[in-house]
Amino acid sequence: MKKILSGLFAAALGCLTVPAFAAGDAVKLPSYDWSFEGVFGTYDKASMQRGLQVYKDVCAGCHSLDLVAMRNLLDLGYSADEVKAFAADYTVEDGPNGEGEMFERAGKPSDYFPNPFPNEQAAAASNSGKAPPDLSLMAKARVGGPTYIRALLTGYEDTPEGLDIEDGMYNKYFPGHQIAMASPLYEEAVEYSDGTPATIDQMAADVSHFLMWAAEPKLEARKSTGIKVMIFLIIFTLVMYAAKRKVFAKVH
Ligand code: HEC
Repeated sequence: MKKILSGLFAAALGCLTVPAFAAGDAVKLPSYDWSFEGVFGTYDKASMQRGLQVYKDVCAGCHSLDLVAMRNLLDLGYSADEVKAFAADYTVEDGPNGEGEMFERAGKPSDYFPNPFPNEQAAAASNSGKAPPDLSLMAKARVGGPTYIRALLTGYEDTPEGLDIEDGMYNKYFPGHQIAMASPLYEEAVEYSDGTPATIDQMAADVSHFLMWAAEPKLEARKSTGIKVMIFLIIFTLVMYAAKRKVFAKVH
């Protein structure tokens, strides 16, 4: 019995410990202000629209975004017609048709973002052996989430003396520092349609904001439900307290 109890206790303790990077790798992430943080946090649509532009013009060359459909872009503040036009810019494979042939057609809002590579092997072969991971849930998959992605995109530095890492492949925030993705961003890599200057910092912030939305599109609804539930619970507590006083007033 004692053994079982101590086993359970050890297991419970195990659940409490937070996974950490290997010792020595833990670089503290910078802290950024995100509009979606805090109880009342919401997404910044202008930033997400710019982030979409960065994803489309830069990241989509290597990274898929499998779980996001074009129609989801309505969340970013686009009209149905704008989403239609955006989707139509893509060519997607469909079929088979009546003759059993696959065919190509213009994208529709119900289509998902197309994958830049036909399969994982092709993706790895074009990227020095490492396939670029899908970005749909990336903002939830890494410790630090959007803050990690933003830091990573701005974390390229010259390789410090004594390390055997090819120039351009040293990233301060990547675990182990040797990354197989060369810095995808450079000044003016995109031309923002809202005229915002496209600095590396700005693009990193916007695309991370966009990827946070991709990973958690229902964040705002979740927060507002949470607030309503809290308000309800507070009022309910007051009502119950008043009722209790009234009932017990007669008993005494
Ligand atoms: C030329 C191809 C290429 C482009 C363009 C590119 N990436 Fe990558 N990316 C990669 C590869 C390859 C990896 C895998 C790196 C590794 O594991 O060493 C990667 C990994 C990542 C990771 C995961 C890092 C980790 O912790 O595992 C993130 C996040 C990421 N990329 C974001 C982006 C964003 C955002 C953009 C657009 C601004 C972008 N990438 C553009 C090739 C690319």
